[in-house]
Amino acid sequence: MIQLIRGVKDILPGDAELWQYLEHQASSLFEDFGFKNIRIPIMERTELFSRSIGEQTDIVEKEMYTFADRGGDMITLRPEATASIVRSYIQHRMYAVEPVQKLYTVGPMFRRERPQKGRYRQFYQIDAEVFGVASPLMDSQIIFMLMTLFSRLKVTDCIARLNSLGCPECRPAFKSALSAFLAARQASLCEDCQRRSDKNPLRVLDCKVPACRQAMDGAPSIADSLCPECRRHFDAVMQHLTLMGIPFEIDKNLVRGLDYYTRTAFEIQTTLLGAQSAVAGGGRYDGLVKMLGGPDTPAIGFAIGMDRLAEIVALHLGDFSRRPQLFIAALGSACQTLAFEWVNRLNTEGIYAEMDMADRGLKSQMKQADRQGAAHVAIIGDSEMAAGQVLIRDMATREQTAVPLETFTEYIVTRFDGLVKSRISDDFVKCSQARRANPEE
Ligand code: HAM
Repeated sequence: MIQLIRGVKDILPGDAELWQYLEHQASSLFEDFGFKNIRIPIMERTELFSRSIGEQTDIVEKEMYTFADRGGDMITLRPEATASIVRSYIQHRMYAVEPVQKLYTVGPMFRRERPQKGRYRQFYQIDAEVFGVASPLMDSQIIFMLMTLFSRLKVTDCIARLNSLGCPECRPAFKSALSAFLAARQASLCEDCQRRSDKNPLRVLDCKVPACRQAMDGAPSIADSLCPECRRHFDAVMQHLTLMGIPFEIDKNLVRGLDYYTRTAFEIQTTLLGAQSAVAGGGRYDGLVKMLGGPDTPAIGFAIGMDRLAEIVALHLGDFSRRPQLFIAALGSACQTLAFEWVNRLNTEGIYAEMDMADRGLKSQMKQADRQGAAHVAIIGDSEMAAGQVLIRDMATREQTAVPLETFTEYIVTRFDGLVKSRISDDFVKCSQARRANPEE
């Protein structure tokens, strides 16, 4: 049998409903904040990522899925969405119509990392980007929006970790101070950091290897090197977050794994994920639009790791799979034809109804209804047909109701409508909570 490749996974029915729910919650909240959906390709020219993410980053150095296509062009499966959205913003001259653009997208990303829990080679992100706003108000607003989403999803065990990475004015001085500090500690650093300390010294700050952490004790802090403008910006972000009651911590070692950031960089971390604690990450990248050939445009954004978010939300929201509201157990071909008509009518009315299509006996149809978790079963055989009535059994209470044949579908539509219409909405949470409180239902 051909199996999945390492580091990728299927999202099966039962889980996929939770994913749909997360997408729906995120997109409706983001749209309330003025974001518009954008769909970008999965493949781009390799150069787009190497130039924007940075040649010396782990992603570009060792994690991209890059290949020459049959025409010899170098193509990469996108490791993230920001670079593509920036390319699209520039290519379609979105700035000419309205420089302020708020865009979001949802989809798979590809990085050849070492797979482990919460870390995949094909993973999914909900990504949001804002172009054209330099104000620190926007930094705080997108963190607020992100935290609002998490609180709506009842992911309360999370905190925003924040740092400022400075700007081209103040970062070079910090980089040289850091390089000088690292030069004296080369021997104590891990192999990766020895290499990084020359080309990309900032990355040494967030190395998780204990020896490196120890060696970095007393390292210069970027917070002490910020220019007055970056300092003011960062103070304002913190002030607004405090005013909005958003819990945050300053993490002077937070540098992120992508080189395009300037000023605010942040991650949302949770204790529920084990080693892969970041459920979202982002920051400001005021220089990237210009660097990729567009006008000088400030920008900021973030991406949520959907796989990780789904893992956390599943812990408390339980089973999301949708069960039939009604299973019609029909016996004999005349009843089956009628049931077929009813099921199709009900399905188009927004009711999840099922029937047997294999001419099984009553007992095995009842078993089938049970297996599918149907809330109600309607039984229709020759005697019901002769009496002009259908029996509807509530599978939880075992109560039975007789309903006239002619008004059967109207009865079901009125009885079940509303319950089912809201299948990917807030009511999903309520249904799921009710189901957990009342497992037999
Ligand atoms: P990132 O920190 O590389 O940022 O990824 C964002 C989130 O994607 C992470 O916090 C994590 O939850 C999830 N993630 C990353 N790699 C994996 C993986 N291998 N398996 C599962 N989940 C993963 C970016 O991608 C930036 N483009 C974010 C951004 C947008 N910055 C500005 N705008």
